[in-house]
Amino acid sequence: MTDLELISEVNDRGYAVISAPATADDPFDAHRNVARSLGLADAYTPVLYRDSEVCDVVGQVGPYNEIPRDSSLVLPWSEMPGQQFHVDGLLEPLDGIKTTVLHCLEQAYSGGETELFFSCEAFLKLSAADEDAAMSLLHPAALTRFATIAVSEPTRLRAAGPAFGKVDGELATRFSDGTTELWNTAGNPALQRALDYLRGPALDAHRVRIRLEPGDMLVFRNDRVSHRGCAYQNGVRPRRLTRSMYSSAPYHRALDR
Ligand SMILES: [Fe+2]
Repeated sequence: MTDLELISEVNDRGYAVISAPATADDPFDAHRNVARSLGLADAYTPVLYRDSEVCDVVGQVGPYNEIPRDSSLVLPWSEMPGQQFHVDGLLEPLDGIKTTVLHCLEQAYSGGETELFFSCEAFLKLSAADEDAAMSLLHPAALTRFATIAVSEPTRLRAAGPAFGKVDGELATRFSDGTTELWNTAGNPALQRALDYLRGPALDAHRVRIRLEPGDMLVFRNDRVSHRGCAYQNGVRPRRLTRSMYSSAPYHRALDR
């Protein structure tokens, strides 16, 4: 696949999977190489990881992350719970992180897929069927996301905003729906209808599950697609992924019109 084809696939479909053998010296060289192919600017450090107190607690700093953070602590055959759907960038505004790259170094013994939910597609479907419900997702206080990390002033680790919205004329999502989210549904039946749709029929119609093999790399548009890691069981060696994030979208000047 040429760089141009890869960029088109990510931007048109929302994601692509490519083969990118891990490099022995630095596991993030593979990220730097694909970022260059995709025309992405420098990797982006999320707001949460720029907080010094948070860094002390979670030990995750900078734009390049290991998942899990310390695989030497993982016991053979241990089980990990699945995640809820989210977009990366808990404290970022809509559209803050446009691209995420996940690279599989070691796969789980079982499970461990990445599931994508094409939440912007679901929003468009909802807009056609129930405009009031769709509009409620655009409200500037529709969705609050918060970190549960113990810091001295936890209120600074909260961000309210719309769940969907247009940024530079493009629809973007921060649809996330887990234990670190609060939906402003009180006295708001339209938003409850929207959630019932997104959590039910929309999920069934607009998702895909991808199981990365070692050396596979998943690139997806974090501003248009929500995602989650599925539950898994480690083998003798722990499952290992690496991740990088970017504030820009894949771009090639040949795609300019
Ligand atoms: Fe994520």
